[in-house]
Amino acid sequence: MFYELATSSWGQEEIDAMQGVISSGFFTMGENVKAFEQEFATYFGKKYGIMVNSGSSANLIAVAALFFKKDKPLKRGDEVIVPAISWSTTYHPLQQYGLKLRFVDVSLETLNVDETQLEAALTPNTKAIVAVSILGNPAALDVMRAFADKHGLYLIEDNCESMDAELNGQKAGTFGDLNTFSFFFSHHISTMEGGIVLTDDLELFHLCRSLRAHGWTRDLPPDSPLFESRGNDFYEAYRFILPGYNVRPLELEGAIGRVQLKKLPGMTEQRRKNWALFQSLFGNDERFIIQKENGKSSAFSLTIILNPALNPNREKVFAALKEADIGYRIITGGCFLRHDVLEYYDYEIVGEIKNAYIAHDYGFFVGNHPHDLTPQLHRLHEVLNAVV
Ligand SMILES: Cc1ncc(COP(=O)(O)O)c(C=O)c1O
Repeated sequence: MFYELATSSWGQEEIDAMQGVISSGFFTMGENVKAFEQEFATYFGKKYGIMVNSGSSANLIAVAALFFKKDKPLKRGDEVIVPAISWSTTYHPLQQYGLKLRFVDVSLETLNVDETQLEAALTPNTKAIVAVSILGNPAALDVMRAFADKHGLYLIEDNCESMDAELNGQKAGTFGDLNTFSFFFSHHISTMEGGIVLTDDLELFHLCRSLRAHGWTRDLPPDSPLFESRGNDFYEAYRFILPGYNVRPLELEGAIGRVQLKKLPGMTEQRRKNWALFQSLFGNDERFIIQKENGKSSAFSLTIILNPALNPNREKVFAALKEADIGYRIITGGCFLRHDVLEYYDYEIVGEIKNAYIAHDYGFFVGNHPHDLTPQLHRLHEVLNAVV
């Protein structure tokens, strides 16, 4: 394909790392995962990392952990504030744990939650807020952190799309009480499948470790605040304290993650160069609404919304992109309120949802990759300039 949505960021080093694991004959979660967790947490200045088998699983155990906290646990029926645009598995764990969602519209410029509506979204039952930074662009994470602190809410940061982005010199994925990342193919770093939760809180760290693996105590130190050893090794070896899962990663994923993390700063730099060229081609053109950076984007992908005021024909644009062999897709998961699965949700809409529908109906994104996209972006511009 001339310009793909997603490409591999692997080289020989990742293959060598896998080969090392294969030669060791040890495939289940072990030393490589442990080392990667520490290195990843250190890169982001967080105390603890819990690697899992996907970003979706990271969201799942992050939400679950808050239900088992000793102090102020979440309860079924509590309310959580969410943006109208995100990926499905940002929301599904909230539904699965019986929370009521309050959807807030996004800003058409940033595609992130319209933070001016947070106060309107708050009720006496609000107990948490999920912050999502769409496609590399930091949401108003500082505002959401302050809002959460002011009202005693938990802040879960789903940072699966914005690894290495920054706001006021602080990395996205470090503002939450729990922060999640994805290492799926085409993400900022890829371990095939994979994800991680970062936190500074020891209790949440231990809860996530137990929930990741069967709800048992085996991955916890004997002085963990979660349980007291009864001193019988036979039973302690298989002692279950939480209704957990098995969402452990593989050693292969840990080993690849260690290699990819070293490449992250260079890859982000290249993504930002491509993003700068994209901005120079499509910014200041009333036909196209492109994402407005808040802080420093890590430019996961490049979004275009056809200006609805000009009555554009998106199908014609898609046909031209197809003809030019350029990949495109819906922005993240589109507006979640448009999806059939909503029938299973307990939810309310805060105010009016307008911009998320515009993004859903008039928007799309093309890929950004950690290599030079100059020819692809010029061709994209030529095609869109002719058809729009
Ligand atoms: C915002 C967001 N959250 C969660 C996920 C889930 O990550 P994964 O595909 O690793 O399960 C994604 C996937 O891209 C995402 O975009």
